[in-house]
Amino acid sequence: MAFNSGPKVNEIALSNPGARHILEDAGIDYCCGGGKSLEDACLHANVPAEEILRRLRQNSDQVVPGETPWTSAPLADLTKHIREHHHQYVREAIPRLRALLAKVRGKHVSNHVELGEIETLFGDVAREMLMHMQKEEQILFPFIDSLERAASEGGAVEPPFFQTVRNPIYSMMKEHDSAGELMRQIRAASGGYKAPADACTSYQAAYQGLQEFENDLHLHVHLENNILFPRAVDLEGAAL
Ligand SMILES: [Fe+2]
Ligand SMILES: [Fe+2]
Repeated sequence: MAFNSGPKVNEIALSNPGARHILEDAGIDYCCGGGKSLEDACLHANVPAEEILRRLRQNSDQVVPGETPWTSAPLADLTKHIREHHHQYVREAIPRLRALLAKVRGKHVSNHVELGEIETLFGDVAREMLMHMQKEEQILFPFIDSLERAASEGGAVEPPFFQTVRNPIYSMMKEHDSAGELMRQIRAASGGYKAPADACTSYQAAYQGLQEFENDLHLHVHLENNILFPRAVDLEGAAL
């Protein structure tokens, strides 16, 4: 793919996993804010667009081993991958990070008042994500899987109570924006997850864990917003 400042960030992220890693490293939002041009996204992330463009050009043929081409793989494999990797990761990380943040806040809040805010924000994102994933697993993903089965078998799907797949997708995307914004606030409150000089090992582990949580959220939302959801809308459109 030829990169210039024209394509949208989500299109660049879709072009190959190497491009996505470059965007992630530069702090460029390619999932919730993926509809922006590269130039606008660089401006937003306060990084030089020319430098990002140069890195993207250098790495445009790079393929990360082991990554599945989700733009063409069966949707049932993609929903399974999201459930088993990203949803599972979120469910494991939440109690671990909550316990770590409570411990660190208890010990260090007198010198670092931002720890109280970070703990509250993480509590919000945790609560939202747990409910969000349940809705995807119980309502949206089974419907997408049934659309794909019907398409391959030439059958029909029961009309869903939500009328069209666009409705739950719209809700899920709004919730992605909210979770992304909460993590952005956590990143800002923690100074970009930089532990202070007096941070103990738990403090460092908590910030590292939050950074991992945000990175995973970006990839998770990218797979849904930029690949799964548009493919589901196309599939439903073809079935009508
Ligand atoms: Fe999800
Ligand atoms: Fe989601």
